[in-house]
Amino acid sequence: MNDTVVLKRGTELELDIQSLAYGGMGVAKIDNFVIFVKNAIPGQKVFAYVYKKRKGYAEASVKEVLKESEYAEKVHCNHYYICSKLQSLSYDQQIIEKANQVEDTFRRLGGFLKFSLDNTVIAKQIFNYRNKMEFTFSPHRWVLDSEPEGVDRSFALGLHMTGRYDKILDIHSCHIQPKIGDRILSIARDVCLKNPQLRPYDPKTHIGFLRFLMIRYGFNTPDLMVNIVTSYNDMNKLSPLTDRLLEEVPEITSMVNNVNTRKADVAFGEYETLLYGNPYIHEKLGDLTYEISANSFFQTNTLQGEVLYKEVEKLIDFKGDEIVYDLYCGTGTIGLFLAQNAKEVYGFEVIRSALEDAEKNADFNNIENVQFLKANLDTYFKSGQLPKKIPRPDVVIVDPPRAGMHPDMTQYLPKLKAKKIVYVSCNPTTQARDAKILHDKGYKINKAVMVDMFPHTPHIENIVLFSK
Ligand SMILES: C[S@@+](CC[C@H](N)C(=O)[O-])C[C@H]1O[C@@H](n2cnc3c(N)ncnc32)[C@H](O)[C@@H]1O
Repeated sequence: MNDTVVLKRGTELELDIQSLAYGGMGVAKIDNFVIFVKNAIPGQKVFAYVYKKRKGYAEASVKEVLKESEYAEKVHCNHYYICSKLQSLSYDQQIIEKANQVEDTFRRLGGFLKFSLDNTVIAKQIFNYRNKMEFTFSPHRWVLDSEPEGVDRSFALGLHMTGRYDKILDIHSCHIQPKIGDRILSIARDVCLKNPQLRPYDPKTHIGFLRFLMIRYGFNTPDLMVNIVTSYNDMNKLSPLTDRLLEEVPEITSMVNNVNTRKADVAFGEYETLLYGNPYIHEKLGDLTYEISANSFFQTNTLQGEVLYKEVEKLIDFKGDEIVYDLYCGTGTIGLFLAQNAKEVYGFEVIRSALEDAEKNADFNNIENVQFLKANLDTYFKSGQLPKKIPRPDVVIVDPPRAGMHPDMTQYLPKLKAKKIVYVSCNPTTQARDAKILHDKGYKINKAVMVDMFPHTPHIENIVLFSK
């Protein structure tokens, strides 16, 4: 079939799902024409409805599964396809598909025709692994077809419907977070339904009080934080919720109230009030203890975070005399973890509060050979802002956001003349794009390791070691 085929919006047809695309949609092909199928997994035969047709591809949704896949797995929740997405696919097959996606991306987008991963590291714990969850309060509940008719739509505490900023799916149980989170959700919902003054905030009208319920869990410590985000400050109003949570969940070690009066739909408050315990939790990775406050960035999978950093350590193969740059260092987690192997570590990051956390964590762990610098890496090196007294690096670690490195940063990176560059990425597409630039400037891909940080979700974490 080619692009002139009769396939158009509204077409219904049978499709064999051959693989999984980056992002989690099933892939079917008719001749070489690609059809991405929502909520379908490799190995299924489905009857599907085409809802979008573009020049080179189409998108379809499943009307009926005609033949189940040999990789199908029993799911834990009825809304998995909205949040975790891959839960119905066996974990082994999730890894195979993700590894194929990385390899395909590097071959197609990066032009590395012989690229293959040297290793894929699976997660030992594939449920209850997330150390941070952010649930939204809303007066606009999204109701699934599977839910009983006539349910109250005026209150929800849960997660966003894909693509809908204003609709929230009411979540009672989430298998990705630790089990205690379900108890916290259920108490919070009960208190809100019994106390009409605890009105959920409406992002359309900007009226209402409760915005988010954020939970942070210590995995290697017993710490547990509840952060309630409200649209204004009113302790009396909030007290039925905070009192009951503290009464019924003695495991809570920290409770804070972030106040976000702005329209931006974020849990980050303009200011924070401490309601109980410490304004942070502690978490341990290897020998180090990190202090994490409500708004700090921290890898969302603690157990795999440690595995990821150990893989970085292995790839670098330290001699002990290295100068290391940790670019996009966030709260300095990677650099601090590796500091004992190196002579000196310099972390670079644009967000001041993250740098303050990084410095606190260095002090707390008595690490003296690290220094953190405020830098907007889009322009920092190119515009000559690196102080002369800072030595040139032997090793550079980069861990940019999903968009990858700014082109000016990627172009400049080889001028730092590091022997090794370790590129940690949560987006293989931008990683492959940047890898091509580094390759054209003399850095060869030496090793590539995918570490699964996000079981049951389409997210990917990949490390590439480049050397001269
Ligand atoms: C994926 S996180 C890396 C976090 C850290 N390496 C860790 O493992 O905890 C990306 C970081 O890049 C920072 N960032 C984004 N754009 C930046 C820029 N232009 N300059 C410097 N840092 C930036 C973000 O603030 C964020 O902390």
